[in-house]
Parts: sequence; C-alpha cells; structure tokens
Amino acid sequence: CGISAYIGYREAYPIVINGLKRLEYRGYDSAGVMIYDGKKMQLSKTKGKVSDLEAIINSNPEKKVGKIGMGHTRWATHGIPNDVNSHPHPSQSGNLVLVHNGIIENYDTIKKELIRRGYTFKSDTDTEVLVNLIEEVKKNEDCKLGKAVQLALTNVVGAYAIAVFDKDKPNELIVARLGSPIAIGVGEENNEFFVASDASPFLEYTKNAIYLEDEEMAIIRLGRPAKVHKIFDDSLVDPMIQELQLSLEQIEKGGYDHFMLKEIHEQPKAITDTFRGRMLADENIIKMSSVQDNLDKFLNANRIIIVGCGTSWHAGLVGEYLFEDLARIPVEVEYASEFRYRNPIITDKDVVIAISQSGETADTLAAIKLAKSKGAFVYGVCNVVGSSIARETHAGAYTHAGPEIGVASTKAFTTQITVLTLIALKLGQANKSLSDERFKNYIQKMQLIPSQIQKLLNIDSKVKEIAAIYKDAKNCLYLGRGFNFPVALEGALKLKEISYIHAEGYPAAEMKHGPIALIDENMPIFVIATNKGHYDKVVSNIQEIKSRAGKIIAVVTEGDVTVKEIADHVIEIPETEEALTPLLTTIPFQLLSYHIAVMLGKNVDQPRNLAKSVTVE
Ligand code: G6P
Repeated sequence: CGISAYIGYREAYPIVINGLKRLEYRGYDSAGVMIYDGKKMQLSKTKGKVSDLEAIINSNPEKKVGKIGMGHTRWATHGIPNDVNSHPHPSQSGNLVLVHNGIIENYDTIKKELIRRGYTFKSDTDTEVLVNLIEEVKKNEDCKLGKAVQLALTNVVGAYAIAVFDKDKPNELIVARLGSPIAIGVGEENNEFFVASDASPFLEYTKNAIYLEDEEMAIIRLGRPAKVHKIFDDSLVDPMIQELQLSLEQIEKGGYDHFMLKEIHEQPKAITDTFRGRMLADENIIKMSSVQDNLDKFLNANRIIIVGCGTSWHAGLVGEYLFEDLARIPVEVEYASEFRYRNPIITDKDVVIAISQSGETADTLAAIKLAKSKGAFVYGVCNVVGSSIARETHAGAYTHAGPEIGVASTKAFTTQITVLTLIALKLGQANKSLSDERFKNYIQKMQLIPSQIQKLLNIDSKVKEIAAIYKDAKNCLYLGRGFNFPVALEGALKLKEISYIHAEGYPAAEMKHGPIALIDENMPIFVIATNKGHYDKVVSNIQEIKSRAGKIIAVVTEGDVTVKEIADHVIEIPETEEALTPLLTTIPFQLLSYHIAVMLGKNVDQPRNLAKSVTVE
C-alpha cells in the first residue's frame, strides 16, 4: 500500500493525489483521500485505481478544498477491495482519520473488545480497528493524540506505517512506523510537511527528508521541527534530515509508453552504474569494501544461503551457479518465506545473502532477522538506498539500478546478477578458485555486457513479430539449463505477471519427466540454447519437442546453425562467457512479455493483484 499526506500552506489535494499516482506501484486495487477544509473532513474513496478516484473527485470539486490531506492506494490484505474497505478510515466519532500500510495481526481480539465497548464497524479492515482503538484510548486516558497513538500501538501486534489526523488538532499529523517504510518531507522553516511511503511524492517540493526507523513515531506540527520519539519507551530521537539524491526525471517515463519498457532499455546504463568503481579492469581487481572487510566470513563460510522472493529469488539462483562455479563455495537458495518458517539449520559459520529490489519485502526481512538471531553474517543486495533490508543487514552492496517502477522487475534483476557476479569473481580471485587469466577474461567480458545489451535491444521488432504470433497461447513453457535455468523461470514469471498467460519454467532436461505430456501443436516453447555448456543436450531436447509438434522459439548464440534448422524462430544473442549469458538471454524474454501484454491490452506497469513491494508476510 502507499501513503501520501500533506499539511502546510498549499492546497493539499493536488499534492496528495499526484503522490498517490507515484506510489501506485505499491498497490492499486482501491484508493482514497481525505481533505480537511478547516471545518469538515471530506472523504472520497473508491475501488479501482487512483485515476478512478480522481474522476469521482473531479465531479465534486468541493471535496478538493483544504490545506491538510491524506491519501492511500491499497493492496488488499483484510477485506476485498471495495469502497468501504478503502482508506482513509475515520473513527466512529468521525474526529480521527487514519491511513495504514501493513497488517494488524491481533485485530480480531482488539475488534471484539471494542465491540464490547459499543463500537460498530463498517469495513472488514484491520485499519478501522486501529483508528477506533486510538479513539478509545484517547477518550479513556483523556490524552493528546500523540500519546493515544503511542499507547494504542503498544497493544498492537503486526507491521505498520500510519498517518493519523484529528480534526480537533488541525495543525498536526502523527506518523508511526514498524516494519513498513515512511518518509517525512520537511518544508522550509517547517512551514509544510509531506508524509509518504517513499520520497517520490514530494520530490518537487523539498529535498529534505526524515526516514522514520522501526518503532519510531513523529509528531508533526506546523512551524516547529518534527518531534520523533520511540513508540515503546518514550525516549526522544534526534531525527536525521537527509538530503534526497533522487531526481524527478528518474521517476518519470521519459518518452516511453510504459515504465517497464523504459526500464528494459535502461539496462545497459544500469549495469554500467552497478559495476562502475567496483570492477577495475586496469588493476585487475574487484573493489567492494563490503566484501573485502568481511572476506574471512565469506571465505570461511560453511556455505552461502541466498534468500529472496519472486524475481530476486531467481537472481539468487543465478548466484548459486556463479558462486559455485567461480568461487567453489557451496550455496543454497531459499524462498525467504519458506526459510523463515521451517526452522532452518543456520550457524555463525553461514553467510546469508538477502536479495531485494525494494529492500522492504516482509518475508525477506523476516528471514534476515531469523538468520541474524542464529548468529549468521547477513549481507544485503538491495536497490533502494536506505531501505529496511539495507539497514537490517550487517553489510551489503546496492545495485544502483535507479528507481524501478514497473511492477514486473527487469533492470533490478540484471543488476542483482551483476552484483552477484562481482562478488563471485572477487571471492574466486581471493580463494584462488579462479586463475588470473580466467579472472581477467571475465572482467573483460563483463565490460562488454552493457554494449551487447544495447545491441540486443535492436531485436525488438523481431520479438514483436514473435509476440504477435503467440499472444493468444494459453500455456507456454520456458526451458533452460545450468546458468540459464533461472532465466527460464524468470521468463515464465514475466509472462505470467503481465499477460496472465500461464507459463512454466523448467530445466530443459526435466521436460521429459512430465511437462512433455503438455506438448502439442498449440504449445509455444521458449528454449535457451546458447553455444556454451550442454549445447548438444539442449539440441536433443529441442528435437524431442519438434517430434511432438511443439512450436520452438530458441534463444541462440550469434552464428548458430544447428538450432536454426530445427526451431520455428530464433533470437540471437552476442557471444560471451557462459556464466554471463543470463544477462543477455533474459532480455528477449522481457521484451516478449512486454509486447504480448501490450497486444492483449493489459496494464503492463500495474498488473492485476500484484504489488511492487509486498510489505506483508
Ligand atoms: C513482489 C514483486 C516482484 C518482486 C518480489 C520481491 O512480488 O511483484 O516483482 O520480485 O516482490 O521483491 P523485492 O523488492 O524483495 O525484490
């Protein structure tokens, strides 16, 4: 979910609504705003997107007037997406209003107690329970809003970022955080404040931001500095005002039809940014202080455990092949959610690498906390600077992909693989698994990757033709082996996510143990058959598909002749080392999913039911 709020001297509505549009990647099944006009709280909520909400409010312009406002774009957890369940949620008396991102796990117990005390509930949400709990505490304790929020939160189990407004205190907003991010933009001389799930809603207004830490709350009152204190022990915190580095261009589409397409095309630059200053070809070294400073831990580790979710998990799988091949260190890759709940055996001899674009994924965060509690050294690979995972890990490396806004991850994936490659090379050099010659060769080949991707992007029109042929398929299979097995999984995930076509990724050789039963003349099969590692075996797999009339779309290395003769279509990628091929083979699949989704009229950047960062377990 996304939160956007404003208090200050400007009209709040345009700031809040535009903020919600920028945060829509966080969830978009319903939306709402509250604008306070000095007397009344005007609430507008609807199922659907922020643009639906905007259309409703445009026909009721009186609901736009006021200098205080808060809004929310939702990814449903408790209660279906409908108007009533949308935020903001007012309290029973109508005096308080609250927006919330996260989950109140013990909401049912609290709700029953509040019902016993005479409260009635309109929605099915845990959020309405929280706002009424605050109201009840405020009434019972006869205290100020800040104190009531604090006391209420001490009774809450779960995760949250909240903003609360009390119409009896119209120059004040209360903000709190546990497990879900929240940023406060600070205007000149504290004459206005912005509150949002990330800084993007207020970039054009201020570069000064306070990021609340877990277990912190802020009392924001116009004309004085934000007062930050701990939720659970009352101690005051000196808030650090950070200067934002993000620019407005970075979060806009820059001439592309969709963020996803822009982000696919940004990959040459993103990968260059990721290895800039780290991969020093002249000196033949990888400079990464976060690894260097902890080299003993990596080199003496019993094993490396990589955790992540979704696309980040796929990058982790590529990491497994990289670490084992280049550095000869045993690796296990786990879904963060499974790792967290199966009592894993971890010791202080293990190194855990947590991968996350957003740095906010709740499952990954929980896995990190568990690994830390067992004494493991935890290393983070995140894209979002200052994110929860970046802060929770002992050390880490940022991917420097820049903001990724399309829900289907593209440049985050390839930059995660880039970081993992750099670490694997560095460790391989350090423990001498890699000869000088091989190390040097990898660095040289890695340097070529951005320009090779740039060239590869020219296949767009060819991929579009293939997309037009197969867009109506009901099922697709993606096959790859070795380093490219995770790419097959990621290719299938991309198609599922944005075109809603069922797709499965499989190791090419496993096809004969099951999926082969699905193959007929209606089944497109995307096979990665580059000229390295197991090429002949993959060619045999392709023959097996051919003899069952499946349609074959193969990703091959430039100059390939054998597969060209058998496959229905081929897409060529430039020559590189096998370990680096995932950075190239993944590009045609990204473009393919993109074009199919566009042709089918799907919402590419905001596919149904998904959210970019999932801050609930
Ligand atoms: C969500 C997104 C996926 C993403 C996954 C992990 O499900 O829709 O695209 O791969 O979360 O996100 P993270 O930010 O931890 O990489």
